[in-house]
Amino acid sequence: KQNKTILQCLTDHSIASPSISSVTFFPTDPSFTSTLQSYTRNLRFTSTTTPKPLFIVVPSHVSHIQASIICCKTHGLEMRIRSGGHDYDGLSYVSKAPFMILDLFNLRSVIVDNGTAWVESGATLGELFYAISQKSKIHGFPAGVCPTVGVGGHFSGGGYGNMMRKFGLSVDNVIDAKLVDVNGNVLDRESMGEDLFWAIKGGGGASFGIIISWKIKLVSVPEIVTVFKIEKTLEQGVTGIVHKWQYIADKIDPNLFIRVVLLPVNKKHLQSIKAKFIGLFLGNGQELSSLMNEAFPELGLSFDQCIEMSWIESILFWSNYPKGTSLDVLLDRQPQQEKYLKKKSDYVQEPISKENLEGIWNKMIELKRPALTLNPYGGKMSEISEFETPFPHRAGNIYKIQYSVTWKDDGVEASGRSLDQIRKLYDYMTPYVSKSPRSSYLNYRDVDIGINENGNASYSEGVIWGRKYFKGNFERLVQVKSKVDPGNFFRYEQSIPCLGSWK
Ligand code: FDA
Repeated sequence: KQNKTILQCLTDHSIASPSISSVTFFPTDPSFTSTLQSYTRNLRFTSTTTPKPLFIVVPSHVSHIQASIICCKTHGLEMRIRSGGHDYDGLSYVSKAPFMILDLFNLRSVIVDNGTAWVESGATLGELFYAISQKSKIHGFPAGVCPTVGVGGHFSGGGYGNMMRKFGLSVDNVIDAKLVDVNGNVLDRESMGEDLFWAIKGGGGASFGIIISWKIKLVSVPEIVTVFKIEKTLEQGVTGIVHKWQYIADKIDPNLFIRVVLLPVNKKHLQSIKAKFIGLFLGNGQELSSLMNEAFPELGLSFDQCIEMSWIESILFWSNYPKGTSLDVLLDRQPQQEKYLKKKSDYVQEPISKENLEGIWNKMIELKRPALTLNPYGGKMSEISEFETPFPHRAGNIYKIQYSVTWKDDGVEASGRSLDQIRKLYDYMTPYVSKSPRSSYLNYRDVDIGINENGNASYSEGVIWGRKYFKGNFERLVQVKSKVDPGNFFRYEQSIPCLGSWK
């Protein structure tokens, strides 16, 4: 009966063709489970005990979105907005309160035109990169390196990738957006005003409205770029190399981005640490080779380890596809593999000493599985003021750490063990990372740093996690939220609270 009433409400408020009933799925529909799971990217939230939505709307027209807002309000439901479903803690598709999912995967057109593009939120980064490459060999876009990530969540949380040191974040290159607000109005940059436009560029879109599409400014990339990947073990001097990397990675030519992935090795006769250095250079192999010889000879990068290719091929390289793989894989919306996972993040502002790096390696070996990924800042990131966008982690940060643990078995025990391991490593790192606040990256969603209990708007709860993600920009986000959604319709565990919600 409830399904019928909801469907009637949706139908009454949408005049679009195809009808909203053809894009609405209740648990009684045969395709409900597959629709729910298609973009559930963390297997941790696929268990039978995970709360399920009352229904899912997959809009193909803006009036489907408007009707969904009205009917959620009428029935007192929470709305979860999902684009690519990569939220690490599943906040785009799980809620303890009665809820529905607005799943945007059908809104995914990309129109590239003359150095700019309009991209809908349901597109993946792979689809965006592919569309750019079909129009131009000298344009690219600074965004994440995983092609299945959704544009909607990625852009509204900041969005960084391996061209960040040269061009900043995705949101530093967004020039317009279309959003449906809490009253169902469709707004663009001009009609939403600069405050709301500022807020959705890194403050998390889902606190403010549903972003349908983004206009971006493409960036110029050379026809030839150079990539490399080098592995080093503890025995080959990882400690000294990582130590030196901390002194050059944020200061070197901004055309160069060198990521470090640190993994514990736990074999019967070998307990060690392996480091992978993965690089993108916006230039040719010869230039890269001389740059590295001068600034970072400790890595021992030889000219024949420098691989030249086009920018679009470098996207495949960074996603571990073998050379020669067809660009069509960028259109594949399913990840190469799905995992049970938990991630956390930190910022490092002072180089860690060799002695302390060794302590970290020992802790990683003891804990067995959590890995660290170090991403260098500097360059363009240091030139942009921390108030320019809600994302505040600019000058003063040498690199960001991503903590990562993945596991294969379902069940409370495996997940409890993994969560415990990653939290222990995070605790161990406390002396070496940013303080007051200990900062985090919104797109590396982490509910451990605090939530609004019961999805309520609570300033005192919000300020705890909010300052970690947004530092001094949190207050401005609260002001924008209070103005555009005073009734707190767009609410979830880490939505921006409204002013006056002091409890
Ligand atoms: P999802 O649909 O889960 O949304 C995430 C959040 O945004 C939710 O709160 C959701 O409600 C909200 N939202 C989504 N669409 C919206 C819309 N249209 N309007 C309003 N709110 C909306 N990050 C990075 O910066 N660089 C990287 O290289 C990577 N790499 C990476 C690899 C892999 C495998 C994963 C799983 C994740 C990353 N990330 C990342 C993190 C990623 O940027 C982050 O999870 C994004 O929020 C994912 O966006 P989706 O649209 O896929 O997520």
